[in-house]
Amino acid sequence: MDKFVINGGHKLYGEVNISGAKNSVVAILPATLLAEGPCRIENIPDISDVRYMLKMLSAMGAKITMVNPNTFDIDTSYLSSHTVPYELTKHLRASYYLLGALLGRDAKARVAMPGGCNFGGVRPIDQHLKGFEALGATVDMEENAIVHAEADSLTGNSIYMDVVSVGATMNVMLAAVKARGLTVIENAAKEPHIVDLANFLNSMGADVRGAGTDVIKIRGVSKMHGAEYSVIPDQIEAGTYMAAVAACGGDVLIKNVVPKHLEAISAKLIECGAEVIEGDDTVRVISNADDLQHCNIKTMPHPGYPTDMQPQMATVLTLAHGTSIVSEGVWDNRFKYVDQLVRMGANIEVNGKIAIIQGVDHLNGCSVKADDLRAGAAMIIAGLAARGTTEIENVIFIDRGYENVVEKFNALGADMVRVPDEGDQPGRMKSAG
Ligand code: EPU
Repeated sequence: MDKFVINGGHKLYGEVNISGAKNSVVAILPATLLAEGPCRIENIPDISDVRYMLKMLSAMGAKITMVNPNTFDIDTSYLSSHTVPYELTKHLRASYYLLGALLGRDAKARVAMPGGCNFGGVRPIDQHLKGFEALGATVDMEENAIVHAEADSLTGNSIYMDVVSVGATMNVMLAAVKARGLTVIENAAKEPHIVDLANFLNSMGADVRGAGTDVIKIRGVSKMHGAEYSVIPDQIEAGTYMAAVAACGGDVLIKNVVPKHLEAISAKLIECGAEVIEGDDTVRVISNADDLQHCNIKTMPHPGYPTDMQPQMATVLTLAHGTSIVSEGVWDNRFKYVDQLVRMGANIEVNGKIAIIQGVDHLNGCSVKADDLRAGAAMIIAGLAARGTTEIENVIFIDRGYENVVEKFNALGADMVRVPDEGDQPGRMKSAG
């Protein structure tokens, strides 16, 4: 597998453009299944999760045309299959959105339980399935971990989510937009990507209201049409660059962002002593890395501190003066990456869902691995800030969610290269874990 080699210790200066949001686009692409006509989707990040999702749509019969690397025309008028096997879903957690979208389209779907990042705990989809059943679908598990959901027709209902779940909220939205009558999702997730999906569905003729609050009301429509839509900027990619500037020091203008989506991230960086200046669609981060101060983080569903920024921010705190406490409030086990930071000289103790970080003077480069996507992002930040050379293995996890990450950091003054695995055949498609 390819690796990244980073010579650390360079401050970051300049400008970086943020790509479209991974966690929006992986639901928006399946949502094109609901349209009776072609869709044009812009600001699609060129990442492996997108490539796998497009591959799944195309395997089902969708006609996909690349307009440019970030814009695709997708026509799902004709489908040859409503089944997505494990060989295709194993690469991507978000494959489960095909269940909701196929169910919403034709009231039938057979999708294998997906793969994706594993934080060491279980990643259940019981709330997704409970939502489909409430709409009138029968759901059963077939051989080869295939979830089969089917209904004569779907009817709107009131669904209370037992946990705040991004995936379940979006999946039920996809299934409900064409269901007869009114669907009400209570205790819905409120992340920016929920609003983005609702906006896309509404641009196709759906009637979704309240996205971004904890009650979403969906009035079923009988037909939906194709639409042109541009995906929102990636909150977590932006936050990752912000954290990198804080840890390395420097002055970087982060462009094509929605500053409102970054408020929780900005607030914590400011608490640590970085300066964050908001523009209309930019944030500028200025940091003197030597003066970082400790702070405490607790991850929570939006508008709380995002769990997908927890490893990156914990990395910043390894270099801050004093003791910081990081509590993970969303996932059971998201501290697997800590061992890698400790090998680089960080002082972190993990106790269940809490990490206690004593700031150190510096990190030392060494050989580490990306355990999952955001753990990989944390390794990049650590490598960029560390003294000496850091080698990061398993970068296919990072490829899942960061477009042109080497080029973007190098344009800011980093010294980072991708070293291809000598065993890899040129042109061979790599699996994304
Ligand atoms: N949960 C259940 N039952 C369910 C669904 C979720 O108990 O049916 C629990 C989970 O175990 C977890 C909590 O609810 O403890 C929240 O999970 P959620 O469903 O919100 O997560 P997800 O939809 O599977 C998305 C992102 C993750 C991100 C989480 C939380 C996508 C494709 N993934 O996952 O992103 O961590 O929301 O914000 O949108 C990443 O980008 O690195 C990533 C992992």
